[in-house]
Amino acid sequence: MGWTRSDWRAKPRVQMPEYPDADALEATEARLRRYPPLVFAGEARTLRSELAAAGRGEAFLLQGGDCAESFAEFSADTIRDTFKVMLQMAMVLTYGAKVPVVKVGRMAGQFAKPRSAPTEVKDGVELPSYRGDIINELPFTPEARIPAPAKMLEAYTQAAATLNLLRAFSKGGFADVHQVHAWTLGFAEGERAAQYRDMAGRLQDTLDFMTAAGLTAENNAELATVDFYTSHEALLLEYEEALCRRDSLTGQWLAGSGHMIWIGDRTRQPDGAHVEFARGVLNPIGLKCGPSMEADDLKRLLATLNPDNEMGRLTLIARFGAGKVGDHLPRLVRTVQEEGANVVWSCDPMHGNVIKSSTGYKTRPFDSILREVREFFAVHRAEGTVPGGVHFEMTGQDVTECTGGVRAVTDEDLSDRYHTACDPRLNASQSLELAFLVAEELQGRREEARAVS
Ligand code: PEP
Ligand code: CO
Repeated sequence: MGWTRSDWRAKPRVQMPEYPDADALEATEARLRRYPPLVFAGEARTLRSELAAAGRGEAFLLQGGDCAESFAEFSADTIRDTFKVMLQMAMVLTYGAKVPVVKVGRMAGQFAKPRSAPTEVKDGVELPSYRGDIINELPFTPEARIPAPAKMLEAYTQAAATLNLLRAFSKGGFADVHQVHAWTLGFAEGERAAQYRDMAGRLQDTLDFMTAAGLTAENNAELATVDFYTSHEALLLEYEEALCRRDSLTGQWLAGSGHMIWIGDRTRQPDGAHVEFARGVLNPIGLKCGPSMEADDLKRLLATLNPDNEMGRLTLIARFGAGKVGDHLPRLVRTVQEEGANVVWSCDPMHGNVIKSSTGYKTRPFDSILREVREFFAVHRAEGTVPGGVHFEMTGQDVTECTGGVRAVTDEDLSDRYHTACDPRLNASQSLELAFLVAEELQGRREEARAVS
């Protein structure tokens, strides 16, 4: 293919920092190039084949985690709690879809953030925007906002420790289905509460039956362990390049920074640096598709990022905003159909639904999130295509960042436990409620399919 891991440097780049100290940058890159990769080629290939199943409707992708991981909030407890909620969601989804759920964390590398403006103004003072802990710091001072290359090393260390703990949780007994089920949704009233309660009850019955029948983790490895993958936006290309390695078996290049990487909605220029980097690595690639995605660009991106048209290589992550899915998704689904392109369609109901609350916080109304998910499924139902997955910003912590949900968070509540360094995340109970909604959509889809056949 004539690709090298530094080719992106010759392409136009956006959303990347200008490091003032070139020597420090070069020294950091040199160190990172000597560090071990965090993931291995065989894992990325396995994930590709699991995503291929999601694209065919034989599995379902659950991708979720922080908007931005932070150095300050790094702890075993936060990792454990997010991991646990994802397993709970996966179980709910498996129950609805009756297919395996492919679990991919926005974890162990999700540090760099694209921003809507390069600078931020407060009280007449203008400073460069905060771009994530791998680049600069959140406090509004000139020193904090200077991009510092050494932060890449700290991010690498945190990612390595996070992945180590995730691997331990996945295989070491914590992921036993019998440990995970705690359907502690504070099922309030509301139109869906009864349905969710009913589904949770049936799910619990199934688990009780399995236990009674002797299907326990002790005698079934399948029940005791899970496969859990990592992902992040491949935004900071110096970091990505330094961790990019050649697979000794095949000679192919691997982004060693995580199992799956994605290209953001702001950095998906077909001739840009981010697409150039992603096209050369063997990992599964995600591509965010927002309202400005034109059919022609999508065609070029399909050809560039997945020239062999392999299912599982490319996941299109639709993020249009509630009420706008119908304006954009059908035309893109049809473009994909016309091209005969094999893709996994996933729904990110987070990034099109950010608003400013009456109390001044950035938030996302839970109702808009639910609505975008429903619209996504409705379009795929109408077009006869496969809704292959979902992509959420969520945490296992009891934060109040998105409004609404069964334990309603109000505008006034936002200030109580608002922690995110970036976008508002779903808390544990909102995440689980969303999983029930998706499970219901998937169940409906199965029932329709059965009625037809
Ligand atoms: C993100 O996923 O955090 C993000 C910035 O998404 P998008 O590129 O879709 O805006
Ligand atoms: Co975000």
